Amino acid sequence: MQHLIDTNNFNDQQLIKLMNEAKAFKIKTPFTKFDNKLLVTLFFENSTRTRSSFEIAAKRLGIAMVHLDPSKSSTKKGESLEDTFENLAAMEPDGVIIRHEYNNTPKKLADKGLTPIINAGAGNNAHPTQALLDCFTMMEHFGMHTPQELKGKRIAIVGDIVSSRVAASGIRLFTRLGLKVVLVAPKPFMPDNDLPQYENLNDVIDEVDVIMSLRAQLERHKAPIFEDYNEYAKEYCITKERMGERNILLLHPGPVMRNIDISDEMLEDARCKVLEQVKNGVYVRMAILKLILSD
Ligand code: CP
Repeated sequence: MQHLIDTNNFNDQQLIKLMNEAKAFKIKTPFTKFDNKLLVTLFFENSTRTRSSFEIAAKRLGIAMVHLDPSKSSTKKGESLEDTFENLAAMEPDGVIIRHEYNNTPKKLADKGLTPIINAGAGNNAHPTQALLDCFTMMEHFGMHTPQELKGKRIAIVGDIVSSRVAASGIRLFTRLGLKVVLVAPKPFMPDNDLPQYENLNDVIDEVDVIMSLRAQLERHKAPIFEDYNEYAKEYCITKERMGERNILLLHPGPVMRNIDISDEMLEDARCKVLEQVKNGVYVRMAILKLILSD
């Protein structure tokens, strides 16, 4: 049974196939629909992009979707996550797309072997579909045909890295592909790992091809880390002044905290591909659903 808990569930050939399929969907190559398939979404955390992107991807593929809203489910009567999942699986869907606050929830459910699990974001550990759409967006920007061609490109991940599942999945995928990843953050936002670390973006901005800006994940902070995010922004907001004329691709998974993560002006700049990432997310998720449902 094919799951997507993190991007390492896909081997190199599957990654290539996935990116090719996403490209084919984007250029509107005709495809056969999955009319007899049905997926369930189970989002225990809020989402604008991921949930709607999965729903649009599924509908474009002809897949039926059922959403279970945990705030209106028997979770509120004390039913455990495992029981909720097992009851949904008993209805024989073709997969469950789950977002949850705990890092190990998707794996724990996948290990039951009841139905394919797609991780739509788990704690601060993994958000594989975001990493894959970011990979696709970089490939598209640099005119590449395989993810492996990204080898040697340099990406700075900037912001609240330690709290970010986007960064966690991205770092694992990008380093696997041979990208050079550097981390730029104030000390409280810096994870403990072996990657090059900088407190000041200016120290590394001339050496990078891509900047991935991240939101401060206030909902994951046990206590406030910065009292004034306008002060934080003076160092870490990606502004036109900071970017200068450099030819750097600017990414952000969203939601963007305007003028804290990226300035209003920079969000309008042609180098900023935030909405292209969102658009690509639908095509990449179509490819992911096709891969998993064809297994
Ligand atoms: N990028 C992302 O995961 O956005 P949502 O939280 O809105 O799904």
